[in-house]
Amino acid sequence: MHQPNKLQNDNFTRYTKENISISHGNFFDFQESNEYDYIYDRAALVALPKEMRINYSNILKQTIKVGGKYLLIVYEYDQSQIQGPPFSVEEKEIKDLYQDQFKIELIESGRPEFNANNRMSTLSTIKGLRENVYILEKI
Ligand SMILES: C[S@@+](CC[C@H](N)C(=O)[O-])C[C@H]1O[C@@H](n2cnc3c(N)ncnc32)[C@H](O)[C@@H]1O
Repeated sequence: MHQPNKLQNDNFTRYTKENISISHGNFFDFQESNEYDYIYDRAALVALPKEMRINYSNILKQTIKVGGKYLLIVYEYDQSQIQGPPFSVEEKEIKDLYQDQFKIELIESGRPEFNANNRMSTLSTIKGLRENVYILEKI
């Protein structure tokens, strides 16, 4: 089996194989601009405390092309029930972070399903928890 190419430069280790490239490092050091067609964010924005989310969103905004799409999955719940993470991120905050550069559409909303694999997670204990799925399109 062929190993991926491994390249260490700037603050990232990059692994490349065929048309897949993985950059491993501290996201807050990421400096590429206008490179990507798509962003998939599951449990990343909601893993950060509020004061870090503006910085995070500013980096993401630079890394996606005009017309690019960003699938964003967040949780919404009464934050007084648990301290987080994951933190509750409401629609108003998503608009505050992204509506200057993105068209925002909520495409799905509901309580996540808990099964044998994840029912022990903290999330399963939260009353009124909703998992909200947004598509953001860069304009
Ligand atoms: C809640 S996990 C979600 C992982 C995965 N996206 C998922 O849905 O299962 C949050 C992830 O963000 C990573 N993370 C946190 N801070 C980071 C940073 N500054 N740079 C890169 N990754 C970070 C953590 O290592 C962790 O893997």
